[in-house]
Amino acid sequence: MRVLLTGGAGFIGQHVLAELVSRGHSVRVLDSLRADVHRGKPWTPPEGVELITADVREAEACDRALVGVEAVLHLAAKVGLGVDVQDLPDYASSNDAGAAVLLAAMARAGIGRFTLASSMVVYGEGLALCAEHGLVTPAPRLEASLAVGDFEPPCPHCGKPLGVRLVGEDTPFDPRNAYASSKVAQEFYASNWARVTGGSAAMMRYHNVYGPGMPRDTPYAGVAAIFTSALRAGKAPRVFEDGGQRRDFVHVRDVAAATVAACEQHTNGVAAFNVGSGTPRTVGEMARALSAALSGPEPEVTGQYRLGDVRHITADSSALRERLGWQPQVRFEDGMAELARASA
Ligand code: UD1
Repeated sequence: MRVLLTGGAGFIGQHVLAELVSRGHSVRVLDSLRADVHRGKPWTPPEGVELITADVREAEACDRALVGVEAVLHLAAKVGLGVDVQDLPDYASSNDAGAAVLLAAMARAGIGRFTLASSMVVYGEGLALCAEHGLVTPAPRLEASLAVGDFEPPCPHCGKPLGVRLVGEDTPFDPRNAYASSKVAQEFYASNWARVTGGSAAMMRYHNVYGPGMPRDTPYAGVAAIFTSALRAGKAPRVFEDGGQRRDFVHVRDVAAATVAACEQHTNGVAAFNVGSGTPRTVGEMARALSAALSGPEPEVTGQYRLGDVRHITADSSALRERLGWQPQVRFEDGMAELARASA
């Protein structure tokens, strides 16, 4: 297929690009090479791949980029967590307006296939089990509780601790930071577009993606990159909270394979797919794996916290396996060792 990949010069984008090329697709990349990610460094696409350096918010650039295209994979976005409220306008503009401009251009061009890089953060804390009240949406964590080291979100009804559950794609949205809100908005725009045009949209809700080429040393870097940078400098990884927060660390090559599988196979209406390895880990466990791989100092558990952080996000990715025949290939231990080597 002839496809347009937005954000193809980014961390996940470059792996999706490699997967598309290896599967014989003809790829055009639209990427603004935004300064907060690329820091003015040029990026050269692999041979045979066309690059249009422009922002997805520019309607004319989208029109140009869509000529002759059959499917769009939309990865261009401002990523991360949102450092503070001052980040809101840029998330709204880069992500919400970006998706809206692109989808409108797709409708003009009559292109009916859309694959979106969404995120597990759309679920907030997801759902958890209370012994007394059954399945509940965990209450937001109060700063007063975090400050005294009380990190687990309580049952909203009785305040008691909750058991963790893997969230399915039907879990209600509960975005708790600027980035999460912008991903929810993108999904709504895509559903809206699909309904009106009869197109198909696959929302790929990525879990914590890691692997070679991860951005680091920026306020928007993921925790695995922050830890490897610290270890490279001979310092201990600084683990926030008590290190017991759970995530599903999924390797970027597995994420790329899932994204391309959805682009190739999903042609019917709107569908969401959680993209996780299926094996949740704690942040403390991940820090120890990286320290061991780099023979570095033991992680330091700091008790620090970030207000927009959720405590646990763990996905049930069985729909992706069952409906798209996808299987993660990279084991956690191997992936972390590879990341450690890549950053050495
Ligand atoms: C990450 C992604 C987000 C994505 C989501 C999907 C980044 C920056 N964010 O969010 O785009 O949508 O996964 O699930 O990649 N931590 C430390 N020490 C540090 C930094 C962080 O212990 O120095 C902890 C945080 O408190 C948090 C955990 O590590 O509990 C993960 O943080 P982070 O990598 O920023 O990712 P998410 O917030 O899960």
